[in-house]
Amino acid sequence: MIRLIEKLAKEHRLELAEYELLLRNRNPEAAELLTELAQKTRKEVYGNSVFIRGLIEISNICKNDCLYCGIRGGNRNCVRYRLTPQEIMECCEEGYELGFRTFVMQGGEDAYYNDELLCGLIADIKQRFPDCAITLSLGERSRESYQKLREAGADRYLLRHETADAEHYAKLHPPQLAFADRMRCLHELKELGFQTGCGFMVGSPFQTEAELAKDLKFIETFQPDMCGIGPFIPHIDTVFAGYQAGSLELTCYLLSIIRLIKPNILLPSTTALGTIDPLGREKGILAGANVVMPNLSPASVRKKYMLYDNKISDGDESAQSLDSLKQKISAIGYQVVTDRGDIKNI
Ligand code: 5AD
Repeated sequence: MIRLIEKLAKEHRLELAEYELLLRNRNPEAAELLTELAQKTRKEVYGNSVFIRGLIEISNICKNDCLYCGIRGGNRNCVRYRLTPQEIMECCEEGYELGFRTFVMQGGEDAYYNDELLCGLIADIKQRFPDCAITLSLGERSRESYQKLREAGADRYLLRHETADAEHYAKLHPPQLAFADRMRCLHELKELGFQTGCGFMVGSPFQTEAELAKDLKFIETFQPDMCGIGPFIPHIDTVFAGYQAGSLELTCYLLSIIRLIKPNILLPSTTALGTIDPLGREKGILAGANVVMPNLSPASVRKKYMLYDNKISDGDESAQSLDSLKQKISAIGYQVVTDRGDIKNI
C-alpha cells in the first residue's frame, strides 16, 4: 500500500488494478499517508488559498428522471421553480459585493433556458462583471449549443460523469440517458475550450471498488480541470430511498487520491460532504480539496433544490454567511481568497 501511494504521488498514475487495490485495502495508515501527500501537493500548487464559487441554482425543473435525484422530472412532490435572467443577475450582484468572482449557474435540464436566453444572460453578466468567471452546470446539450454558450463568454462547464462504468451508469439512469452521450458531451466541452469538470457520487447504489477504480482511471486519462465528488445521499422520493449514504471517510480518501492524480485540479469540498457531517467541508479541504461553493440562490427557493434529503442550504452553506465560513477555514490553516480561481498551469 505504502509503495502504491508513493508511486501515485510521484507518477500521478496507476494501473486500473492498482487503483482497485488502493481502494479495497484501505486502512488508517494508508489514509493518513494519502492525506499528508495530498496536502503537501495541494500546497505546492495553490498555497493555502481556498477558492469560492457563488452557486446559483437557477431551476429545479428537469426533463430527466435520474434514479437517485430528488429533482428528477417524475417526482410529483417536488415544488418547481425557475429563476428569470433578472433574478439571476441580482444574485450575481449580491455575490460580487460579497467577494465572489465566479458564478456557477446550475440547474435541471429545463428547456426554458434555450441558447438565446442563456447567451444573452452570459453576455450581460460578463459585461457587468468583466473580472468574473462564469461556470455552467446545465446538463447535456448539443455541441452547437455548447459552442454558442462558450462564444457568449462562459468559461467553465461542470458535468459530472456520475460513473465511468457504462453498466453501472445504466443502473443509475433511465434508458433515455446513455453513458456514450455523457462522454460525448464531456469531450466536446473540452474541445470547445471550456475548463471542464466531471465528477461522481461516492457510495452510489451498486458501486464497488471496481467502479470507483474506473472513475479514477477516467480522471487520470480525461484530465478534467475540475472534479466534483460527494457522498450519495438517499432522497425519499426516489427509487433509491432505502439505500445507504456514502461515507465521509471514503469521500476524503478519494479526494486525496484525485489530488495526487492531478496536482493542479480544482477540487470542491461539496455540499453533500457538509450535509453528512457538520465538519465535512473542513475535512474535505484537509483531504486535498481547494474549492467551496456557497449557495447564492435567493433564500425563497433554496429548500426547493433538494437533490437529496436534508441538503443544507443555510448556515455556513449560504453565501451570506461567508464571514463565518472564512473563519472556519482559517481555523484549519487555509484562507478564502477573492479571485476567479482558474486552474493553475504547472
Ligand atoms: N446524493 C448525492 N448527490 C446527488 N446528486 C444528485 N442526486 C444526488 C443524491 N441523491 C448529484 C449528482 C448530480 C449533482 C448535481 O448532484 O452527481 O450530478
